[in-house]
Amino acid sequence: MATPQRITAPRIRGMKGGTERIVSLTAYDAISGAIADEAGVDLVLVGDSVGTAMLGMPSTLNVSLEAMVHHTAAARQGVHRALLVADMPFGSYQSSVAQAVDSAVALVKAGAEAVKLEGAYTDAIRAIVKAGIPCMGHVGMTPQSVNNFGGHRVQGKGDGSHIVIQAAKEVDEAGAFSMVLELIPAALAREITCTVSCPTIGIGAGLECDGQVQVFHDILGLSPIKFKHAKVYCEGMELFREAVRSYASEVRAATFPTSEQSV
Ligand code: KIV
Repeated sequence: MATPQRITAPRIRGMKGGTERIVSLTAYDAISGAIADEAGVDLVLVGDSVGTAMLGMPSTLNVSLEAMVHHTAAARQGVHRALLVADMPFGSYQSSVAQAVDSAVALVKAGAEAVKLEGAYTDAIRAIVKAGIPCMGHVGMTPQSVNNFGGHRVQGKGDGSHIVIQAAKEVDEAGAFSMVLELIPAALAREITCTVSCPTIGIGAGLECDGQVQVFHDILGLSPIKFKHAKVYCEGMELFREAVRSYASEVRAATFPTSEQSV
């Protein structure tokens, strides 16, 4: 079978303003990575949402660089075509530019082709790009700043729009190859998309971004919480629960295994 043509950061950047929208989804291991990749997702993000989606943590603030390295290496095993981007977790880039570069390098060594960080850490973005690592930005509701925001609240409403626009411009000028716009009004997302030179990838930011990103567990019904910004495409939790119920009842009824499963 021919190797599929890999999607690169320059290719994602080149999709700015084009007719084809950028499709992005999170993944945290080889199986979710393969599902996303084989379904034709362009950009697979090993998000720090791994903390809440998979590890039972109360927020992304608890996620370590070591955990991100571990999950990035696992996702790498399943992703062969999409661009694999790893999130830089809280505390892995805020202290200094050197810390940011070291953390980005660790994620690339684990298999990432690019990294993402939250907020206008422009010196860090510049240094990461200079080190040869494409860097994605993330503005609006940046979950690592949840305590500053007083909760996961929509950002950029009214006068607050200037703060988000300014951050987006700075991230763009620092050399990000794309940026996530999270939980901001659709009109603001449109304005930022028209202003910045890199593609915008929205989550809870309306339709007029250059692409969309969602959390794997949210769209597959594997999250106990239903978010307004997410559409559930399949009731995964219920499907899996039902399958396990069937397995349990067959074991109890001694109808599994049959001769078919006997070796
Ligand atoms: O960690 C994550 O899943 C993210 C997306 C919501 C963009 O940052």
